[in-house]
Amino acid sequence: MPRDVTLLWGLRSPCAFGCPHCYFGTIEEHKDNPPGQLGVLSHLSRSDLPGEALTAFARTLAGSDVERVVIAGGEPLDWPGALELIALIKEAGCQVVVATNAIPLTRPHVAERLVALGVDGVSVSLDSADADANDRMRPSRSGRLGYHDVLHGIRALLQARAGGPAPRVGVYTVVIRSRPQEITGMARLAADLGVDYYVPQPISLAPDHTLFSQMAHTPADVDDVAEQLDGLYRDPHGLVLPDPSYVQRFLAAISTHDSGHVPDCFGGARLFFIQPDGLVWDCPSDRRIAATSPEHRRSIRGADARTLFAARPACTNCALFSRDCVNMWPLVLDMPRLLNAEVPR
Ligand SMILES: C[S@@+](CC[C@H](N)C(=O)[O-])C[C@H]1O[C@@H](n2cnc3c(N)ncnc32)[C@H](O)[C@@H]1O
Repeated sequence: MPRDVTLLWGLRSPCAFGCPHCYFGTIEEHKDNPPGQLGVLSHLSRSDLPGEALTAFARTLAGSDVERVVIAGGEPLDWPGALELIALIKEAGCQVVVATNAIPLTRPHVAERLVALGVDGVSVSLDSADADANDRMRPSRSGRLGYHDVLHGIRALLQARAGGPAPRVGVYTVVIRSRPQEITGMARLAADLGVDYYVPQPISLAPDHTLFSQMAHTPADVDDVAEQLDGLYRDPHGLVLPDPSYVQRFLAAISTHDSGHVPDCFGGARLFFIQPDGLVWDCPSDRRIAATSPEHRRSIRGADARTLFAARPACTNCALFSRDCVNMWPLVLDMPRLLNAEVPR
């Protein structure tokens, strides 16, 4: 059997940024009202697993069906144990992609170690080619970090790679309804920086989120986004993009809200989501998490990856569409393309 499982592993909850739209919410929102519901993420990190539980699970990845581990959070590279954990996952023969805010890359030993470990991809989050607009979307909690540090981090990693093949370096941009122009604007910036791949992704917010009406797309926004995506795919500036079918998925996702079917969904078949508290879900969709029956609840705590992911369907035909679904394709089906394609410069 080929190894074909991707784990999206939210490793740790804390982050130096306090993006108001973040899947993890903000500390300010949660400090007086910590979320208690199953599956709800928080930067408060009260229930993050101890480091030993993470390394014990990572040691069981060898010989499992897990092909790729996408490490996210919170900010994974701020956790002192992250590089050792990545070393274990690489030793287990898995591909590793790290999703980061890039601030840790400004510490030279971090960038150098990611290269030395043979990490396959580093996806950096940057939401605008304009410094002020980015720092409004992605404010740091101290008020001292932002756009220019992110660019510094990207350059430091590219320099540490020194023309070598890995890691491939990508930019991920969250697209909001008021700024469709970021789709092409960020491509120009990413190409100027020497980045390899680029993934613009639509913002995903619950309809009751305070920023929903300000940031989430409505059907009236679809034409502007379509024009931008068309421009991007006509001239990708030498960047590797998700397969062109991603355009239709992106537009379909912003044309509807939390209804519909996801045929050939790979959540629970080729994709699993691990929360910082160790709980394992088919995918990060809050609707799918809410629909998981208690007897299907699982955790990596004390578990063995060789058995945890052994019994799974070939694919699932999911009726629980959410706007976040579109963001899973680049992590699973597009990742070989994003990591391996030669970049024509
Ligand atoms: C939660 S972050 C964690 C990893 C790392 N700290 C980083 O900044 O990339 C992972 C990715 O999710 C994106 N993201 C966060 N909230 C989102 C939302 N509501 N909709 C779409 N993407 C979101 C971030 O911009 C980032 O690219």
